[in-house]
Amino acid sequence: GVASLIRVPPSLLKHNNGRKGKPAWSSYQGKVYNITPYLPFHPGGEGELRRAAGKDGTKLFMEVHPWVNWDSMLSQTVVGILVSETQASQ
Ligand code: HEM
Repeated sequence: GVASLIRVPPSLLKHNNGRKGKPAWSSYQGKVYNITPYLPFHPGGEGELRRAAGKDGTKLFMEVHPWVNWDSMLSQTVVGILVSETQASQ
């Protein structure tokens, strides 16, 4: 549920960039997702999806396919909400 979502600052998001088999996280519209399980299934290819790994992919996503409902597709992989560094340390 919402109560268990962690508050993810940009620095933590950047850390989870999928390097060396580690989980890749991306944020879309303020929510942070673990995109790792979806990588092999992305119709645009793993490389394209990985361009947003460790960062906010909203702009890239909206440039390519604004009609895709990522929130329903990735609802099982939500890890948290994106907050500023200062909010995260409060
Ligand atoms: C295609 C999902 C992120 C690039 C697609 C399609 C889906 C999808 C469902 C097929 C769309 C269709 O045929 O109408 C997602 C999800 C994402 C994501 C759930 C995020 C979690 C991205 C990002 C990029 C990207 C960040 C680019 C950097 C592409 C490309 C295609 C594609 C190039 C192929 C378009 C085509 O050839 O028709 N994606 N995508 N996607 N996606 Fe993504």
